Amino acid sequence: MFSSLKIKNCTLEVPIIQGGMGVGVSLSPLASAVAAEGGAGIISSAALDRLLSKRYNKKFNTYEATYAEVSLAKSKGGVAGINIMVALMRDYEASVKGAIDAGADMIISGAGLPLSLPSIQKPKDTALIPIVSSARALQIICRKWERQGYRPDAAVLEGPLAGGHLGFHFDQIDREENRLENLLPPVKDVARKYGDFPIIVAGGIYTHEDIKRFLELGADGVQMGTRFLATVESSATPEYKEAVLRARREDIVVADNPGSPCGLPFRVLKESPMYVDALHRRRPPRCDKGYVLLKDEEGRFTRCPAKESNESYFCICNGLLSSAGYNPDKEKPLYTVGTNAYRVDRILSVKELMNELKNTGV
Ligand SMILES: Cc1cc2nc3c(=O)[nH]c(=O)nc-3n(C[C@H](O)[C@H](O)[C@H](O)COP(=O)(O)O)c2cc1C
Repeated sequence: MFSSLKIKNCTLEVPIIQGGMGVGVSLSPLASAVAAEGGAGIISSAALDRLLSKRYNKKFNTYEATYAEVSLAKSKGGVAGINIMVALMRDYEASVKGAIDAGADMIISGAGLPLSLPSIQKPKDTALIPIVSSARALQIICRKWERQGYRPDAAVLEGPLAGGHLGFHFDQIDREENRLENLLPPVKDVARKYGDFPIIVAGGIYTHEDIKRFLELGADGVQMGTRFLATVESSATPEYKEAVLRARREDIVVADNPGSPCGLPFRVLKESPMYVDALHRRRPPRCDKGYVLLKDEEGRFTRCPAKESNESYFCICNGLLSSAGYNPDKEKPLYTVGTNAYRVDRILSVKELMNELKNTGV
């Protein structure tokens, strides 16, 4: 068994954080199941307003939806929190406020640098945890947060093997210096300088042995996505889970052009119908969801890169919503996975997976 991990005021019995997976893959059924097994269960904030409005057939705004889903994730006990992506700028503050008010144990925030996170609202017992991919990024965040009178309660260091958006340029992904084990020591040094907070590593961690190895290398915990995507409790559609089961190593690619309108490389299954359409420039421009909006000249969130350049980007909001069963008839799905998705050969319950990772032999 691994030793426990303390982050701010909560203690994880096992130092495993289930990574937030948007859109709609890690919701309260997954997060509460992980929390009940002693890890940290993390919902994704992405598009919660739409997902909950559909689930309850009643209109939810971002704040209300976040509050409701965090409360549900915590309802079975244990440690539960939320992942809020900086790239979802329009909804960022409402998501943070809803999470803190609902008593989220942690807010984990990446896909951009969460430079102003501590200033949005007093976090009370909620731990604030940035996701970084380099020591430099962590240093910038620590300096910025210091001026706001806060230091990270922990940080997630995500390497280039992860699922979802990657914090590396396309040509940096395979570099030796960017292997997770090589990124860890300088990141630990920054953490020590700013109060010795825990460093959680993520990206490509698959087995009990992997966890053990990274803890021996000096990590304080791990965050895992792909393993939890392939569980009974994840809210990915059955088609998504089947595509993961089918995937071979060569079927997992990093989409860059066409790529994500967030402007970061994004790892996908090559067979994702939305990606195939984008590759063949078949998808007509559309931007009717508006989560990844940039500000226009007047400071309003109106501009979607996918709409402005349909040649270069795919419609990530619609593609990922479809992968979580929202509007699957109208929109083609987009499947994101980590590099290790080809190793998944069956869908486990969270209990089975956590027992395997803890190596309890059950
Ligand atoms: C389906 C899927 C969706 C993801 N969505 C998000 C997200 O919305 N926000 C985020 O910060 N990371 C996201 N990630 C990254 C995970 O939280 C996690 O850090 C990463 O996948 C770890 O690598 P692994 O999949 O090899 O375990 C996602 C990963 C997957 C597989």
